[in-house]
Amino acid sequence: MTPPLNGRARRSLPALAGVIALAVTGCARTSTGPAGTAAADTGKVTVACGATEEWCAAMAEGFATATGVKAEFVRLSSGEALTRIQAGRANAEFDVWHGGPADGYAAASDQGLLEDYVSPNAAAIPDRYKDRTGAWTGVYVGVLGFCNNTKVLGEKGVTAPGSWQGLLNPALKQNVGIAHPSTSGTAYTALWTQVLLNGGDKDGALAYMRKLHPNVLQYSKSGAAPAQQVARGEIGVGVVFSHDCVATREQGFTDLEVTFPAEGTGYEVGGVALVKGAHNPVSAKKYIDWALTAAAQEIGPSVKSYQAPTNPGAKKSDKTVDLTTLKLVEYDSVAAGAVKSVLTRRFDTEVAQAPKD
Ligand code: G6P
Repeated sequence: MTPPLNGRARRSLPALAGVIALAVTGCARTSTGPAGTAAADTGKVTVACGATEEWCAAMAEGFATATGVKAEFVRLSSGEALTRIQAGRANAEFDVWHGGPADGYAAASDQGLLEDYVSPNAAAIPDRYKDRTGAWTGVYVGVLGFCNNTKVLGEKGVTAPGSWQGLLNPALKQNVGIAHPSTSGTAYTALWTQVLLNGGDKDGALAYMRKLHPNVLQYSKSGAAPAQQVARGEIGVGVVFSHDCVATREQGFTDLEVTFPAEGTGYEVGGVALVKGAHNPVSAKKYIDWALTAAAQEIGPSVKSYQAPTNPGAKKSDKTVDLTTLKLVEYDSVAAGAVKSVLTRRFDTEVAQAPKD
């Protein structure tokens, strides 16, 4: 049987198809896969999953149902996934990385941690949402916004910020939540957005983050966590992907309201990629092929994940923000990924240390 994953419990999905396969073949299926898979592939896939826990579970289950191949996942924020994939360089822990901003994938590819794979299904994905050589392919698009608790802000007599400058309002002292860019892809998207809004000047971006620092109550590890803090009324504003705020509002927190910064906002292209040295490359490619289909990308809204699909054939939820109505920065995930480790290290020393476990 498979040994436990380092550090964390492995999530296993008893998807019907996987259960049936095990019942027929027993659980000693370590060197041969089901018919049609190569001997080197155990006929299951282990995923480093970068979106919400619910999304990850729904994807693993959807994949198993669609293909009969079992999927297991570990939910990891972007920086954590990169660290774990680095640690598995000589003996890969994961077969696939799925979800989370593509700049983390670009950084991983620069470090030789991903295997280029151009899925036949990638042809349907617009060029702006995929890597040129197939290091990663986009599965969704999410846009940064401010998640406001109108009740908390009302009590302070502050209106919901509508700009990055407005977020610096001293009346918001210790009332803003944002994750830490060393661990979170969401927060790194916010940091790179500042680089772009400062004409490419990294010093200017870090200077903005230092100005924001007195307003930040806490840097969380995961990008969506500030939406929960806002919902609980611990802070007035969270810098999150807007769909995470919409999902939290749907949990019954009706005081939540999304605003977008007037100067322009950043966005993520959530990726999928084959990990170099994957122990199950056949199943991993099958997983990637599936993740790019319209059917797979229509699963998100069923678990309140309202990112925009990258496959133009996928139906969009009416809760998904219309990207064409927003002022977006020109986000280049490859350029952002190329300096991710340098810039996050600078954030650690010049703004705030990364949160501990
Ligand atoms: C949430 C969002 C995803 C995003 C992810 C990034 O799960 O719904 O769209 O990709 O956060 O996570 P991180 O913890 O790395 O910021």
